[in-house]
Amino acid sequence: MNSLDESSRIFGSPGQKQRTQQERFEKVRTLIRPSSSEASVELATELAELIQSRQESGEKVVLGLATGSTPVPFYRELIRLHKEEGLTFTNVITFNLDEYYGLQRDHPESYYRFMHDQLFDHVDIPEDQIHIPDGTVPMEDVYDFCLGYEKAIAEAGGLDLQILGIGRTGHIGFNEPGSSADSITRMITLDRVTRQDAAADFMGVANVPRSAITMGVGTILNARRLVLMAWGSNKAEIVQEAVEGEMNDRVSASFLQSHDQAVFLVDEAAASHLTRFRYPWLVGPVEWSAEMMNRAVVWLSSKLEKPILKLVDEDYNEAGAGDLLASTSEAAYQVNIDSFNRVQHTISGWPGGKPGADDSNRPERATPFPKRVLVLSPEPADAFIGMGGTLNRLKEQGHEVKLVFQTSGNLRVADVAALNFARVVLEMGERTDGEGWSGQKDYAQSIVDAIADKGEFGVDPELVRRLKGMILRGEARDAASVCGVGNEESRFLDLPFYEEGRYRRFQSSGVDVEKTRGVLEAFRPDIIFATGDAGDPSSNQAICFQVLSSALKSLENGDWSANCNVWLYRGRDRPYEAHEIEMAVPMSPDQLQQKVDAIRKFMSTSDDDVSAPARNQEIASTYNDLGLAEYEAIEAFRKWRM
Ligand code: F6R
Repeated sequence: MNSLDESSRIFGSPGQKQRTQQERFEKVRTLIRPSSSEASVELATELAELIQSRQESGEKVVLGLATGSTPVPFYRELIRLHKEEGLTFTNVITFNLDEYYGLQRDHPESYYRFMHDQLFDHVDIPEDQIHIPDGTVPMEDVYDFCLGYEKAIAEAGGLDLQILGIGRTGHIGFNEPGSSADSITRMITLDRVTRQDAAADFMGVANVPRSAITMGVGTILNARRLVLMAWGSNKAEIVQEAVEGEMNDRVSASFLQSHDQAVFLVDEAAASHLTRFRYPWLVGPVEWSAEMMNRAVVWLSSKLEKPILKLVDEDYNEAGAGDLLASTSEAAYQVNIDSFNRVQHTISGWPGGKPGADDSNRPERATPFPKRVLVLSPEPADAFIGMGGTLNRLKEQGHEVKLVFQTSGNLRVADVAALNFARVVLEMGERTDGEGWSGQKDYAQSIVDAIADKGEFGVDPELVRRLKGMILRGEARDAASVCGVGNEESRFLDLPFYEEGRYRRFQSSGVDVEKTRGVLEAFRPDIIFATGDAGDPSSNQAICFQVLSSALKSLENGDWSANCNVWLYRGRDRPYEAHEIEMAVPMSPDQLQQKVDAIRKFMSTSDDDVSAPARNQEIASTYNDLGLAEYEAIEAFRKWRM
């Protein structure tokens, strides 16, 4: 366990706020690390040092803990430190932030169960030193229970360190918008967005509890030290609001600004909306590369709601980008034209390259033609959501397309879809007098029984997951055929990390990488389309992307892979912003309708994304506002540079 350089330590000294010119918009100390795993290891290392030094002086450490996907890599590292480096938790007392109201302890989604699965069962903390709000106390006792929780924290000596995640509503714990700075442990109604975010875990939003017991903002702020972690681009906007916005009760995480030992520990994707990264020219001198210039011009055009070609020198000066003009000694007119052309060149109806055309200003090369194009879809619906129109074009333009579904996606299939199938088989069995149907009937009955046994939220046994996977396969094939992709051109990879996991708790292994590498080596694609690079790193999509990236890295010396372009699309996560787009594939109204038809084939899943077409229309209207042609819809891509 290495100690880190004092100034970059997460556990900084009181009042140590960042005050460089670049960071001047940030009202709370914000540390940025390349990835969630690096940040988590660093935090676990510092916590281990604290636990050990307290042990040496015979003292205890009181920790406030969070659940959700964010702290999972941190807990994994604590478990590793315990198992491999002898870290002991016998002097640790814990208080969890919150618990869903109405869930029994053994419910698969209860925070009691989560904490035991993810940490407590793997370390040597005594059970009587663990405190988690009880979601089963009768309503009339909740108030007293909450007061008791506050008292227990105080009697333990107060929290030495509170670990936090942040919800998209800006909540810490479950302190939804409206929670005051001095609120204490209490019952709270969950926000619609919070329930939506938990929908996949609960197999549909209707099953997510409506309320929870949570420590208050005041309880949290009483901790001597606070570390709020956030990973992935889906958190970027709310992190920016909490760090740079006014402190107020709409975003309870913003109250960390008032604490002199609070730190936001974020990865690069979650930091990407902070002013120093998003608008670096507003905080200091920047190197005006073509990319940076483009970003500033697109930003200025959207901010002033003026097409790029209409921007004038004064616009640049007034918006704080005058430096750009000074740096090029060009007038706005020339800068506008350069930027306009750059955006213009992202538009291409030939996502696989246009044969025989000059490709110097096209996103994709003209040769070879046709190309071998590998389209990867983490869950079956993802490729259709992110690039259904482009998939169709690639086929129409004569490329050799292979559509690979990386995971079965069976966790998304609702019980009712499997039950319907089983009931049809049972009824067929009845109608055919049972002749020759006994095997099928037994199978169908075992599905019905297994679903009844596990109950609404239980973990699907293998039998049920397999059936759900098969149902989804059928739907995926139908969707593919809407986009012109035949059965023989698609493949289901069923990566094991998914088959063996649950949402927020997936963990990939070398087997996943090997399977993916096998596909790459057999097909030797000229182009790969993939997604999952920047959203929530614990998601299925992100893990599929990490697996792809490891597989590609292991092939780096291969002759074909050096010439293979990887294009990223966005499926369920935040769409690309205009300045990020490197290839914009326009769609006609008919093509958009075809994409909608493909997505509609996914009937068995409980929460499939119906907003994808609207997002494609939004990108088209952004391009229109920048002064480019007015298309019905656009699918956007960005090149991945390994
Ligand atoms: C969990 C908690 C919440 C989560 C937040 C982020 O105990 O209190 O505030 O930290 O909802 O959740 P994830 O980490 O799943 O994105």
